Amino acid sequence: MTTRPDQYAVMGNPIAHSKSPRIHALFAAQTGQRLEYRAILVEPGGFAVAARAFRDAGGKGLNVTVPFKQDAWVFADLLSVRAERAGAVNTLIFEPGGVRGDNTDGPGLMRDLTVNHGYRLAGQRVLLLGAGGAARGILQPLLMERLAQLVIVNRTVSKALELALRFSDLGRVSGCGFPELAGRQFDLIINATSAGLENVVPPLPDDVLAADGWCYDLTYGSEPTVFVRWGREHGAARSLDGLGMLVEQAAEAFQLWRGIWPETGPVIAALRGGQSSAAS
Ligand code: ATR
Repeated sequence: MTTRPDQYAVMGNPIAHSKSPRIHALFAAQTGQRLEYRAILVEPGGFAVAARAFRDAGGKGLNVTVPFKQDAWVFADLLSVRAERAGAVNTLIFEPGGVRGDNTDGPGLMRDLTVNHGYRLAGQRVLLLGAGGAARGILQPLLMERLAQLVIVNRTVSKALELALRFSDLGRVSGCGFPELAGRQFDLIINATSAGLENVVPPLPDDVLAADGWCYDLTYGSEPTVFVRWGREHGAARSLDGLGMLVEQAAEAFQLWRGIWPETGPVIAALRGGQSSAAS
C-alpha cells in the first residue's frame, strides 16, 4: 500500500504568482524527499481556520506570506528567538506536541547576500527602506554583522523610529524620514518597502549611494524591479533582486521540515530560466 506523501503548503493572498511550489518540488526531487507542496489562497481574517484545517488533515508544515505573517506569529505555540523578535512568522512546523513558528526571511537574505554574492557586511553603512513586515524580518541578522551603522528610513517616520527602538539593544540602529537623508551616503541600500508594487521608488537623494555601493531589492519580478533599475542608474556596483533570498528562505524552511539542506544554486538558476538574471 502506498502512503500519501507528506503535505506542505504556502498560504497567502494573493498567492497564484507564488514560486514556492516550484522551489520545493525542485528541492524534493534533488534530495529524494517524498512530499507534496501546494499554494493555498486564504481570505483575509481566515488564516487560523485555514492553518488548523490543514494541520488536522495531516499537514506537516506551512509557509506563510503576505498578509498573514503576523497571524502565523499568533498561531504558533512556540516561537524561535528570531521569529519572536521579528513579530512575524513565515514557517510553521506541525509537531505532535504543538506548532513551532520560525522566520527564515532574515537568514535567507543573509545567505543570498554573503554566500551567493560574496558581500561583506562588517563595517558597512546600511540603509533600510521601509519599516513594515519585510523590514522587521531582516533587522536582527543584519544587526549581528558589526555594521558601521544601520539607518531605517520610512515614509511614516514614527514607524522607523519605533522599529529602531525595538531593535536598539542589538546594535547601532536609528530611524528617520526621507528628507533627513540629504548629504548622507550608504554602502548598501536594501529596499523593504512595497513601493515597487506601485512601480515607484521611495524619494531617495541622487547621491545617497556611495561609490561602489550595492542595492538589494527584497522583491523580484520577471523584469528588473524599479528599485533594481534605480540602483543601476545610480552607479551601483551590484543591483540585485530578491529571487535568491526567496530560494534561500525556502531552503531554510525545507531544512526545518525535512532535516536536510537542499542545494540552492541550481534552483535559483532554474527559476531565472537560464536567461541573464533580473539582477545585474
Ligand atoms: P510588508 O509586509 O511588505 O513590509 P507593510 O507592512 O504594509 O508591508 O509595509 C510596507 C512598507 O512599504 C512600509 O514601510 C510603507 O511605508 P509606510 O509605513 O509609510 O506606509 C512602505 N511603502 C509603501 N508604499 C510606499 C511608497 N509609495 N513610498 C515609500 N514607502 C512606501
